[in-house]
Amino acid sequence: MLDYEVTVFTANRATASTFNNVFIKLIGSSGESERKWLWNFKGASAFVRGAVACFRVSCCTSLGKLVLIELDKQPLLLFPEDSWFPAKVEIKSPEGACYTFPIYRWINDNKVHRFREGTALKGFEDKHHLGRNSREQELKERQEDYCWDVYLEGIPHCLKADDLLSLPYEVRFSFTKQTEFLFTAGAGLTELKLKGLAECKMGWADLDAINRVFCCKQTDMSDYVQQHWKDDDFFGYQFLNGVNPMLIRRCTVLPDNFPVTDNMVFPDSQFSLAEEMEKGNIFLCDYKQMDGVKASTINDKQQYLMAPLVLLHKTPDDKLMPIAIQLKQKPAEDNPIFLPSDSEYDWLLAKIFVRSADFNEHQLNVHLLRTHLLAEVFAVSLLRNVPMVHPLYKLLIPHTRYTLQINSLARKTLISEEGVFTKFSASGGDGMITILRRSLTSVTYSSLCVPEDIAERGLKDIPNFYYRDDGLRLWNIINRFVCGVLSHYYKSDHEVKQDSELQQWILDIFEHGFLSHPCRGIPQKLNTVDELIKFVTMVIFTGSAQHAAVNTGQYDYGGWMPNTPISLKLPPPTKKGEATEETMLKTLPDVNVTVQGMATMWLLSQQSSDFVPLGQYPEEHFSEETPRQMIKKFQKELKELSAAIKQRNKELKVPYTYMDPEEVENSVAI
Ligand code: FE2
Repeated sequence: MLDYEVTVFTANRATASTFNNVFIKLIGSSGESERKWLWNFKGASAFVRGAVACFRVSCCTSLGKLVLIELDKQPLLLFPEDSWFPAKVEIKSPEGACYTFPIYRWINDNKVHRFREGTALKGFEDKHHLGRNSREQELKERQEDYCWDVYLEGIPHCLKADDLLSLPYEVRFSFTKQTEFLFTAGAGLTELKLKGLAECKMGWADLDAINRVFCCKQTDMSDYVQQHWKDDDFFGYQFLNGVNPMLIRRCTVLPDNFPVTDNMVFPDSQFSLAEEMEKGNIFLCDYKQMDGVKASTINDKQQYLMAPLVLLHKTPDDKLMPIAIQLKQKPAEDNPIFLPSDSEYDWLLAKIFVRSADFNEHQLNVHLLRTHLLAEVFAVSLLRNVPMVHPLYKLLIPHTRYTLQINSLARKTLISEEGVFTKFSASGGDGMITILRRSLTSVTYSSLCVPEDIAERGLKDIPNFYYRDDGLRLWNIINRFVCGVLSHYYKSDHEVKQDSELQQWILDIFEHGFLSHPCRGIPQKLNTVDELIKFVTMVIFTGSAQHAAVNTGQYDYGGWMPNTPISLKLPPPTKKGEATEETMLKTLPDVNVTVQGMATMWLLSQQSSDFVPLGQYPEEHFSEETPRQMIKKFQKELKELSAAIKQRNKELKVPYTYMDPEEVENSVAI
C-alpha cells in the first residue's frame, strides 16, 4: 500500500469547529483514492478551531499528480450538522511531493465539495478533464449564488440579496465582526450617549449646546476641527486632506457662470487673477452636480442644498485660502459672490453651505459610488466569472472581504426609504438618486487611477497635499506588486486575450458597473498584460487606499456638526449684510438630525477588531514561491511607507494618517 500523509488545518476563527465526521477523497492524474473517514487519536477535537490534524490515506497504486480533493462532513446522531471552516489541506505523496489545497470557506452541509490544488491555473492551462469539470461546476454554482440585481436604474448593479441572511456564508461578516457591529444609528447613539436627543426636533440655541453633545466623544482630529472650523486656511486645507480630496482642481479660466473680478478678491491689487491663474495658484471646487437637486423635508421643514462654486488661492506662504464663494450655479443679483471681506456671518454661512454640499457630494459620489458600489461590482464579477484556482481570484479575493455585506447593510439601513441618510440628509430621497446617477456619468477610468487623476486636475505641485503624496506612493507600491504577480502568470499579451474567464470578468464590470457606457475609457476587454496590471491596480487601490482616504476621517471632520452639516434648514442669504449668529443657528440642522449624523459617522469611522491591513493575507491562496515572494516584498514596501508617513506626520500640525498602510484595510469593509 502507498500512504498519503494528509494534514487538515481548521481556521482559527470563531465558530470554525466541526464535530461532524469528515471524509476525504484524493484525485490525481492517474486515479483516485477511496472516500476515507478522517479519524485519528485526537478524535472529535481534530477539527476544532485552529486545530492541525494529520491522517493517512492508503492507496493500492500511485494517484499520479494530485489535481483535487473532495471533502464532505456528515453529522453524528447526537450532534447536529454544524458549520466548518477549514483553512487548507496539505498532502505529502508517497513519492515525496507536497501539495497544498487552499479552502478558506464554510462547509455547512453534507454535500461533497471539491477543492483544487493550489498552483494557480488559467482556464486554457487546465489540461486535466477533472480539473476542467470542477472549474465549470464551481462557476455554475457561483452564478446561482451570486446574481446581479438592479437597486436603482442608472447606478452600478449590485448583488441580489433579499435580506442579510440570504447572503452566501463566504461573504458574510465573521462572528466577531457581526457581534461588534450593529449597523444601526441606534447603536451609535447609545455609544455617543445621545439617545435622549434622537427625538428632539428643535434647533440649536447656541454653539455651546452643540459642544455639550459633541464633547461625549472626541478624537484628536475632531477636537482640532472644532477649534479651527471657522478658519479660512483650514477650510481650504480640507479640500486637499479632508474626507473629500476629489473635487478640487486647478483653475486656468474662470467658468462663465462665476464672474469673479480682481477687485473682489484682490482689492489691494497685490495680485491679479489672470497672473495667479497663469502661475497655477488658483483652484476651483465646483459642486455643479448638486444643481437643481431637490432637497428633502425633515421634521416637516424644507431643507436646502446648494450647488456652490468656490475659488481658492494658494498664497506665497503656501496656504490655500478661499477667496470667493457663489452658492448657486447661475449668477444673479440674489446670488451674491461671498468674499472673506464680507461680514463675519455672511462669509461663515457661505462656507457652511459649501461644507454641507460637500457632505452630500462626498457621501454619495466619492464614498458610496466610487468606492463601495464599484468595489461590489468588482467582487460580484470575480465571484461569478473566476474560479478559485485562477491567479486573479487568488490575488483579488482578499480585497473583497466584507464588501458585499457592508453594501447590503448600507442599502438596508442608510439609503433605503427608512434609512438614516434618506431621513436626515438634505439630499435624502429623490435628490440622492439624482446625485448618484449624475455621479456615475462623471466617472472616467482616469479619475479612478490616482496618477492620472492628479495630473488631470492639475494638482501635481500644490504644496501640503498629503492625499496625493501618500496616494501616489501607495498606487506605485500596489502597482509593483500586481505587476510582479500577474507578469509571472501572463507571459504574453496573447495569454491575456486568450483567457476567457478574465475577459468575462472585465466585460461584466463594464456592463454592470459602468452600464456599458463607451465614453468613459473603462475597458470592456483587456488586450495586453500592461492593461491588465493597470486595471487590477485600480481595483485594489479603490477598495483599500481610496476607501480609507474617504472613509476613515468621517467622524474626525463630521463629528463637530457645524463643520459638516448633513442638511441645512434655511436658504442662504440673498443679500449681504443681514446675517447674524442667530441666522446661522437657525440654518444649522435640528438636534435629532445632528445627532443621527454624528452617530452614523461615528459608526462608519470605527475600525473592527478583525481588521486586516493592506497587504496582509492571512488566507494563503497562493502556494507557489514567486507570488509568495511578491507578497513579502509588497509587505516590506508598505511597512517602509508606513514608517515614512509616521515620520512625516511628526512634522505636521495636522497629521495625515488615513493612507498610512497600517491604517488602510485590505477591502471595503465598513
Ligand atoms: Fe465606507
